[in-house]
Amino acid sequence: MIYLDNAATSPIRAEVREAMLPFLGSAFGNPSGLYAVGREAQAAVDDARNTVAACLGARPSEIIFTSGGTESINTALQGIAYAMRRAGAGAHVITTAIEHHAGLHAAQFLEESGFDVTYVGCDHSGHVRVDAFAAALRPDTVLASVMLANNEVGTVQPIAELAAVLRDYARRQQHRVLLHTDAVQAPGWMPLDVNALGIDALSLSSHKFGGPKGSGVLYLRRATPFHQLLLGGGQEMQKRAGTENVPGIVGTAVALSAASTGIPERAARVRALRDRLRDGILAATPGAAVNGCQEACVPNNLNIAFDGIESESLVLALDARGIAASSGSACSNSTWEPSHVLMAMGVPIRRAVGSVRFSLGDATTEAEVDAVVRAVPEELARVRAASAHSAAS
Ligand SMILES: Cc1ncc(COP(=O)(O)O)c(C=O)c1O
Repeated sequence: MIYLDNAATSPIRAEVREAMLPFLGSAFGNPSGLYAVGREAQAAVDDARNTVAACLGARPSEIIFTSGGTESINTALQGIAYAMRRAGAGAHVITTAIEHHAGLHAAQFLEESGFDVTYVGCDHSGHVRVDAFAAALRPDTVLASVMLANNEVGTVQPIAELAAVLRDYARRQQHRVLLHTDAVQAPGWMPLDVNALGIDALSLSSHKFGGPKGSGVLYLRRATPFHQLLLGGGQEMQKRAGTENVPGIVGTAVALSAASTGIPERAARVRALRDRLRDGILAATPGAAVNGCQEACVPNNLNIAFDGIESESLVLALDARGIAASSGSACSNSTWEPSHVLMAMGVPIRRAVGSVRFSLGDATTEAEVDAVVRAVPEELARVRAASAHSAAS
């Protein structure tokens, strides 16, 4: 198999699996246990928290382990927005039209709960404009949530600039707006430092960077107003109840540590492969065009619109040749609607429905890229011929 769907999930790293195995076996204790096997589990969770904090430039007490990106994002949006409203700060939230459904649907839920939400758009390249974001601020705004790297087209948003806008607003208006970023697609491709980004909360999902599925991280800056959503025991510093997923937490730390090492080299190598893939496909398939920009973006993402097809047909044809790619975002694969991200970018609908995402990974090779460059025009011709045939009959 040639796996070019790393934005959907990534293969678990060997060292991650190794580190997790003891906690799936003899080291099975509950970290709350006072006896040896419980203390062993607690020590592993503590170590993992220190490691994750160090990778993000955060304090260990600011790291909350969760069940993944979706939980982290929901917790950040609802937990902060509710706390701010309860404190009487207001009930307006700003987010963007290009968030992952985890963020979009959490924002829609806030609307149903009485919040007013502004969805800032993006330009043709898939970037949120700083001036449009600033214009959305109001005296009752309590929270802004803007993703760091888009999962469909890979564009990196100017989070540090947006944070500066909020700091300036707080100085001028004496009104603080908190900032959350969905950084799920960023680890391994760009450095992540919570202070350089200037955010109050950040969400990660471990399986996107070589870790296990069902594990994630929520960074919550110290003293950020927060209303606890998952109630129960006192785990995760009273911010997220439930017995810790010890193997997942251990795997998350090892994976994030590995992803945070050697970023410039990895990014340069994968960007060169991405460019080779893009240039090869564009040269061989007239009418194909790149969605989004190829500069201010994560280096592993290539989203291409193919005219006159439905992307699902091409994805299935490539699958039959052992190539895994995605028609839009993995999470919207069960629906046939065009991608909300491509729509927000102003991509015409006939091109949006024919768009395929190739997302490269650490393990992608030049030989694999060349095989895909050969396969795409052949399969595209077959798909086009089949759809012309069915249209004629
Ligand atoms: C940008 C982004 N945010 C959030 C998520 C949700 O992560 P998970 O499905 O691991 O909860 C994803 C997963 O595709 C994503 O790409």
